[in-house]
Amino acid sequence: MGSAEKKIVLITGANSGIGYEAVKALLESNKAQYHVYLCSRDLEKGKKALEQIRAEVPSVTSTVELLQLDVTDDDSIKKAYEHVQSTQGRLDALINNAGAHYDFAWVDGKVSLRDCFNKAYDINVTGAHIVTYTFIPLLLKSSDPRLLFVAGLSMLTQAAEQFFPTPSLPAGWPKRVDFETIGYRCSKTALSILMLDWNHKLKADGVKVWSVFPGMLLTNLGGGDSKLLEMVKKMGAGPASEGGAILKSVVEGERDADAGKIVSKDGGIIAW
Ligand SMILES: NC(=O)c1ccc[n+]([C@@H]2O[C@H](COP(=O)([O-])OP(=O)(O)OC[C@H]3O[C@@H](n4cnc5c(N)ncnc54)[C@H](OP(=O)(O)O)[C@@H]3O)[C@@H](O)[C@H]2O)c1
Repeated sequence: MGSAEKKIVLITGANSGIGYEAVKALLESNKAQYHVYLCSRDLEKGKKALEQIRAEVPSVTSTVELLQLDVTDDDSIKKAYEHVQSTQGRLDALINNAGAHYDFAWVDGKVSLRDCFNKAYDINVTGAHIVTYTFIPLLLKSSDPRLLFVAGLSMLTQAAEQFFPTPSLPAGWPKRVDFETIGYRCSKTALSILMLDWNHKLKADGVKVWSVFPGMLLTNLGGGDSKLLEMVKKMGAGPASEGGAILKSVVEGERDADAGKIVSKDGGIIAW
C-alpha cells in the first residue's frame, strides 16, 4: 500500500505516556495503515521515543515520523503545519494529546499559583485550540476527518455529585490538599467547551470531533513527580497503553456514533 493510501495522523505530546502509546497502537493496527507524526516539543526526547518505538514495533508497513511541536509556541506550530502541508498535504486525524499540570509543583513551591493555572491553561487549552485552528485546512482535505481532544476527569456534573478526588476538609486556613489538581482540572473543563465549540463549527464540514477520557493512568503527567505517581497508583491507575488503545479505537471508527461527546473506555460516555 503506497503512502497515499495511508491514514495520516498527528499526535501532539507523543514522546511520552498516552501519546506515545497511541503512536504504538496505530502502528500495530491490523485495520489500517498509517503515517503517524510523533510530535514532541523537545527533539532529543522525541528521538529517544522514536528509537524506542522502532525497537518495540520493529517491522510494520505503517510509518512514523518525528516532528517538533511545542503547543505554546506559535512559530513551532506554524512550522509543523508547513511540514505536514508540504509532505502529505492532508491530515486524517489530529489528536490534541499534549498536556501538563503544575498543581504539585505549586504545592512544592516550585511555581507561583498564577503560573500553576496559566501554564496549564496555555498548554491544555490555548495550545490545543491554536494547533486545531492551524491544522484545520489540512483536516478539510481528508475524506474522513477526525479531531480528538484528550479529556481530563473534570466534568462539572461529576464534580458536583462527588468532589473527586478531594475528601471533605476541616475548617481552618491554610487548607492542606494532598492530591491537588484544581489548576489542571479547571483547564480540562475549559477543554470540554472547546471540543463542543469545534464540533459545532465543523459540523457542515463533516469533521467528527470527540473528547476522549483515557482513564486514570500511570504516565509522566505532573513531571513524573514520585508522590503523584504513588497516589495515582493507590487510586488504581492503569497502564498508559489503555489510553493508546482508546485513542486508536476512536481513530478507527469504533466511537463514530458518539461524535460530539466525551467518550471513555468500554463504550462509556461522560455526562456533563
Ligand atoms: N495520565 C492520566 O491519568 C490522564 C488522565 C486523563 C487525561 N490525561 C491527559 O492525557 C494527555 C497525555 O498526558 P499523559 O498522562 O500521557 O502525560 P505525559 O506522559 O506527561 O505526556 C504529556 C505529553 O505532553 C507533552 N507536553 C507538555 N507540554 C507541552 C508543550 N508545551 N508542547 C507540546 N507538548 C507538550 C509532554 O512533553 P514533555 O515530555 O516534554 O513534558 C508529553 O509528551 C494529557 O492531555 C493529559 O491531560 C491523562
